[in-house]
Amino acid sequence: MMTFDNLLGKNSQFAAVIRAARLIAKTDVTVLILGESGTGKELLAQAIHQYSGKQGSFIAINCAALPEALAESELFGHRKGAFTGATDQQQGRIQAAQNGTLFLDEIGELSLNVQAKLLRFLESGECQILGSTKPEMVNTRILTATNRNLEIEIQQQKFRADLYYRLNIVPLELPSLQQRESDIEMLLYEFTKQLAKNYDLVQPTYSKATIKQLRSYTWPGNIRELRNFCERMVILNSGKIIEPTNLPREFYSISIPNSTFNLPDAGVCLKTLEISIIKQALKKTYGNQTKAARLLGLTRDTLLYRMKKYAIK
Ligand SMILES: Nc1ncnc2c1ncn2[C@@H]1O[C@H](COP(=O)(O)OP(=O)(O)OP(=O)(O)O)[C@@H](O)[C@H]1O
Ligand SMILES: [Mg+2]
Repeated sequence: MMTFDNLLGKNSQFAAVIRAARLIAKTDVTVLILGESGTGKELLAQAIHQYSGKQGSFIAINCAALPEALAESELFGHRKGAFTGATDQQQGRIQAAQNGTLFLDEIGELSLNVQAKLLRFLESGECQILGSTKPEMVNTRILTATNRNLEIEIQQQKFRADLYYRLNIVPLELPSLQQRESDIEMLLYEFTKQLAKNYDLVQPTYSKATIKQLRSYTWPGNIRELRNFCERMVILNSGKIIEPTNLPREFYSISIPNSTFNLPDAGVCLKTLEISIIKQALKKTYGNQTKAARLLGLTRDTLLYRMKKYAIK
């Protein structure tokens, strides 16, 4: 089981999140864990449960993988005959995690209807089992996570503001790996060491130039991507010194920004080019403005400013 000690990182923003997480672990307050993909949201949820000392289980549900029609019965359970096809009674995950923790991952994916029921449970502790007239009191700690911007989802009326405020009592926002640039080297050594041991291989070493290159890379997949990278290096380069030339292609794009584009003799329309590049960045990042801004070397605010200027949606 994951503990806080397994969560590596020295960066001050990261350390502050861990400090807050330790403080809230012993309470029953609902938590919203924010952060890009691969920043450690699930690991943090597990560590909070472990540190809470709760006797019940830790159960994780990915709300994105729950078909809308089943979500309510999955969470709250149902009695036999509650709906067509309910041939047996089924315990909900909230009850299954009684005296423990239920981790609702990708909470932004729940339908508005289920969001309303969840809010009711959070406020009263009452679990409304489908097909049952009497609610049951259940004592389950709820942790939630998302890599979406729920404030935007609220504006688009896809997420309930009241639930958001309820979840957001203690927000824990994990920094992206790029925001933790000073941790990259330590994580690189730590993962390489661990993985070499797992595979019973001699660990590779990284030259100074390689480390510089790795530190300037954007790491869109964050710590998960860094760990996978280390795994690949351990397997392919066991015992060797890794130079920049041994790095996969994606590690080059941002270190040579001046020579990637040659102005044709006929010139270009800078505005058209800019619009096209911004659109490509948004497409590549599935509309995630923070990531798109990063691909373009802009702050999110600057990107939003330019999108507005060119009426890019
Ligand atoms: N602080 C950390 N220390 C060590 N390893 C970490 C840390 N954070 C993340 N990892 C590694 O990254 C992997 C991904 O972490 P996790 O599944 O918690 O990310 P996530 O934020 O839930 O991502 P997603 O949004 O894609 O579900 C873990 O399996 C682990 O190997
Ligand atoms: Mg996750």
